Amino acid sequence: MKAKLVRMTEDEMNMPALKEAGEILKQGGLVGFPTETVYGLGGNGLDPEASRKIYAAKGRPSDNPLIIHIADLEALPAIVKEIPEKARILAERCWPGPLTMIFPKADIVPYATTGGLDTVAVRLPSNRIAREMIRQAGGYVAAPSANVSGRPSPTMAEHVIEDLGDRIEMIIDGGQVEIGLESTIVDCTEETPMILRPGFLNQEKLEEILGQVELDPGLLHETAHVRPKAPGMRYKHYAPKGDLSIVEGPSEAVVAKIRELTEANIKEGRRVGVICTDETRRSYTDGTILSIGSRTEEETIARHLYEVLRDFDEIGVDVIFSESFRTPQMGMAIMNRLLKAAGHTVIQVEGE
Ligand code: TXA
Ligand code: MG
Repeated sequence: MKAKLVRMTEDEMNMPALKEAGEILKQGGLVGFPTETVYGLGGNGLDPEASRKIYAAKGRPSDNPLIIHIADLEALPAIVKEIPEKARILAERCWPGPLTMIFPKADIVPYATTGGLDTVAVRLPSNRIAREMIRQAGGYVAAPSANVSGRPSPTMAEHVIEDLGDRIEMIIDGGQVEIGLESTIVDCTEETPMILRPGFLNQEKLEEILGQVELDPGLLHETAHVRPKAPGMRYKHYAPKGDLSIVEGPSEAVVAKIRELTEANIKEGRRVGVICTDETRRSYTDGTILSIGSRTEEETIARHLYEVLRDFDEIGVDVIFSESFRTPQMGMAIMNRLLKAAGHTVIQVEGE
């Protein structure tokens, strides 16, 4: 099977193509589609057979639950047993947008979609192509990121074609995504809401709206006995083919260390990649140097992270050294993904 590829923008949506996507989904097929965070691999969330197909296409373990995407707030009550007060507040303030919330699931949501859990993750994306497709599909689209399990999430249609082009019915190309990191996942079913996966919507913003919000302790110490609460956060993810290390410390010392490591590795015959920023780009001379974005616009760093990791897979390097990106708003989310990609290999350097 070769996926049918259609292109459109949020301003000029191709309605016949979206209707066709809706039909494919209603009949149990799979469609790759854009959202504001990353591209999704959609299937009918209320059809256990469609969920099984999603797991098979991704090569994903079936105990890692899917997020159900809805197009309107009115669609929520049918798939959840109750809506906690804090979830209602967050939904009103942050949906549509890059936020996923956990609810006790209603009986119509199959365990095949929730990985056997009695809770269901729900998201109302802001991307208009996504929302129209969901409506055409009957309102409930289960969608993990549209990558093969273990690869970086797709931020453009080309990535989806690369990973899933011969495994699904259709791919909607809506251009490069806006954010580039998966949605923030918040569990509001307990007294104090908890972030299960950091994203664009950070702890500070959530606390402005809700008061105290905790961070899942499992996110901070991946090696400790505490396990992340979101099953997907326990898996090794996003690992590039090249062996990735993050170098952390004052900027000048980081640059010096990466230059030194690059030189040493090239001498030993290894192909080296460097992930830097526009600000430091010209300080590097050896290896394949890719700038991820600008430190003065941290959203550019988030948007290009997965793309840069994929680019290095394509170019073919043996080792990658990356600067660290603890930026003010999205640093937590960016570093969460980068640290996973690096298998938590961090080289600390000190300044003068
Ligand atoms: O931005 C996003 O959320 C993207 C786009 C496509 O919407 N989707 C996405 O899906 O990132 P996926 O499947 O790659 O990640 C879903 C995460 C996993 O870590 C999963 O374990 C967690 O959500 N999750 C799903 N249902 C859950 C539940 N009931 N309780 C806890 N975690 C859950
Ligand atoms: Mg994913």
